[in-house]
Amino acid sequence: MSLDADGGSGAEVAALSDKGSPGEDGFVPSALGTREHWDAVYERELQTFREFGDTGEIWFGEESMNRLIRWMQKHKIPLDASVLDIGTGNGVFLVELAKFGFSDITGIDYSPSAIQLSGSVIEKEGLSNIKLKVEDFLNLSTQLSGFHICIDKGTFDAISLNPDNAIEKRKQYVKSLSRVLKVKGFFLITSCNWTKEELLTEFSEGFELFEELPTPKFSFGGRSGNSVAALVFQKM
Ligand SMILES: C[S@@+](CC[C@H](N)C(=O)[O-])C[C@H]1O[C@@H](n2cnc3c(N)ncnc32)[C@H](O)[C@@H]1O
Repeated sequence: MSLDADGGSGAEVAALSDKGSPGEDGFVPSALGTREHWDAVYERELQTFREFGDTGEIWFGEESMNRLIRWMQKHKIPLDASVLDIGTGNGVFLVELAKFGFSDITGIDYSPSAIQLSGSVIEKEGLSNIKLKVEDFLNLSTQLSGFHICIDKGTFDAISLNPDNAIEKRKQYVKSLSRVLKVKGFFLITSCNWTKEELLTEFSEGFELFEELPTPKFSFGGRSGNSVAALVFQKM
């Protein structure tokens, strides 16, 4: 995968999910929804990092991270707020959060190679107080709870493509999110598979929309829209 521009990963996900026939929810199940896929991706990226020091893919590009950090800055989220990055991948966003000054940061991913890569990237940056854990967000260990902020960049998208009962997995995602996030805590999601309206439906139980973050617009064939949705929900 080589994606560098904002929304680029959207095209990638759409292209990969185009094969086969759609399920009940309109999505075509894809390898992107499986742990085997992500293990293979991060195994490769870990190897590349070891050989060339390249951290690999930043899903939705640099701007997607800046957008979230700008929002936290604008809303004066205290630097000691606890932040959870759900499906952290290479952990680059954790590094950005730490460099910005956040001091209570946790990254989880169900792929052990992703967590190994995140650990290596964090170590190379000389950062030591970031917590990392191999964790399936759909089957959480009891220790994870009480976060002020939860971030999702592409993970709900990936889960939505799971070939094995994605509808149920999405419901489980919402339950897990309710469990880990404090009341009044914020959930910041960036998605290329779901529109704002669809995300509002997905997270209607227990969450309300706090703010929509501006994302690049496209226009094609006389229609215009956003290729990426970035929303902030608050837990009720
Ligand atoms: C599209 S990548 C995004 C990675 C990272 N958030 C970023 O923005 O670069 C999706 C990530 O979600 C992780 N993931 C998918 N399903 C998961 C689950 N059930 N629990 C934890 N992590 C999961 C994958 O391993 C992968 O790292």
